[in-house]
Order: sequence, then structure tokens, then C-alpha cells
Amino acid sequence: MTVKILATRRYPGPAFDELADIEVRPLSELAMPRAEVEVLVVANEPIPLHLLPGLRLVANFGVGYDSLGVDALRERGIAVTNTPGVLDAATADLTFALILAVRRRVVEGDRRVRAGRWTGSWANGFLAEELTGATLGIIGLGRIGQAVARRARGFELRVLYTQRRRAETELGEYRELDELLRESDIVTIHAPLRPETRGLVDAGRLALMRDGTCLVNTARGEIVEEPALVAELVSGRLRAGLDVFAHEPHVPEELLTLPNVVLTPHLGSATRQTREAMTRIVVDNILAFERGDALVTPVTE
Ligand code: DGY
Repeated sequence: MTVKILATRRYPGPAFDELADIEVRPLSELAMPRAEVEVLVVANEPIPLHLLPGLRLVANFGVGYDSLGVDALRERGIAVTNTPGVLDAATADLTFALILAVRRRVVEGDRRVRAGRWTGSWANGFLAEELTGATLGIIGLGRIGQAVARRARGFELRVLYTQRRRAETELGEYRELDELLRESDIVTIHAPLRPETRGLVDAGRLALMRDGTCLVNTARGEIVEEPALVAELVSGRLRAGLDVFAHEPHVPEELLTLPNVVLTPHLGSATRQTREAMTRIVVDNILAFERGDALVTPVTE
């Protein structure tokens, strides 16, 4: 049995074409209730439930589902799926791109060349910080955090990690969050956004980080107290590689000219291969739903 599907955009890859009765329309264009829509494909967007009274499944394109309003969906008996597993490598790779860009001043160097400010010899100034041998603190040793820890071995980093439950792992040494912030040269966030992680890295915790520490965030902007981070970056005390922000696509104006910050537009999963794999999972969930089979990757918590 095919069901009426609404997708907020054309999601990348050939799998999308396997969906039969599909309409592509952003939620902002829904003016009237659409009772016939049973399945919604979104990328972690707030859902106007009053406009979708017949909804039975939300297939989220992405692993994070913090903006969907999962509690309200659950109350209405609407199933939710996400796309875990396939974006770990891409996100871990971007994390290292940001770490390297910040530590080795890659973007600053690029700007210098383009502005014609590379004049003297390579042997004059413009020194950065070595990555090899530094201490990397990982907040959240889930799938993505683990992929980061595995890559860290190649860079000969000392790895610390913190998370809700201490794990039996060879990937790094456990630390309480505050200890990890004090000890690390680079701190990278890989926790989901939940009530208990919102504002987790607040002004007080940022203050624990040593001068020159690099904070990388490819998870969710809301996990860090953004105004406090901006203040630390404007002062020049910390450095950062930021892929996510508290109010995307808004990026705090003050960051735009800072040399100690590298900014990317939420690119963690943005490779062709990964995004196509995410669509594959979205589609597999919808096809399973249509057949009346168990969902492939249901959100259960
Ligand atoms: C996700 O899947 O939640 C990511 O933020 C997309 O890259």
C-alpha cells in the first residue's frame, strides 16, 4: 500500500525516486491542513502538527532529531525514524578538517595569500601549533566520537573522553567533563542535544579551558553557551572551529572577522556519499512502513 508522503525538499540520491506518492514542499508553504499526508520527510525541522492531522510517520533525514518535537509526536502515536551510523565518518573527517584548520591557521594563511600579504620568506613568522602529541578531549563517545578517537590515533594524539556512562574502551581515558576541559588542548563536541546537554559548556566551563585551547563543535550549537563562547573568542583567549550555531543559519556577527575562528555552514554530513546514504535509510524506513514491516531505524528514546 502506498501512502501520501510530503518531503520538505528533494533529498539527494537515487533512492528518493523509489518513493511513489510524494510531494516536495517546504513546511513554510503549508497554509491549510493536509489531512491526507501520512508520512513526512524532514531534516530536523519543527513540525506543524495542526496542519498534518493524518500523520503516522516522520522520517528524519539526519541523526539528530532535537527540533522535531518528539514528545508531541509520541503523544499522537506518530512513529519517528532517523539515519544513524552512515554519517559518522563524514562528521569525524570534518572535525579533523576544523582541528587542522584552526591549529595550523590554514584559513588565516589562505586569506593572507589571497590578500597579497604574503611578502617575505616562509621562514618569517606565521607560526601555528603542532597537532601531533596534543591532548584531544572528546565530549560524547558515541558513534561519531568514536570515529574521531580512531582518527586521533593517526595524529598521535592523547585522547580523553567524557560521557554520561563511562565506557570500557581503548579509545581514550575517561575524565569528568571539568577535568577534560582543564586538560585538553583541543575539545570536540559529539553529544546529542538534549535537555541535559543544552548549555552544557557554559561560561564557567569555558573558563576552565586553558589559554589557546581550541573548541570544535560539529554537534549542536545550543550545547555551548554561544554568547559566552563569542566573548572568549573575541578576547582571543580561545580558538574555535564551528560547524554549528545556536540559531542557524545566523552566525554571531562578532565571529565573522576573527582570525582565531574557522566557520563552516553545518557541513558535518555534507558529502555526496553520506547524504545519499542518509536518503537510502529514510526511504528504507518509509518502504518498510508501507509494507507494514518493522521500521529500520526507529527513534526509541
Ligand atoms: C544530523 O544528522 O543531525 C546532522 O546535524 C546533519 O549533519
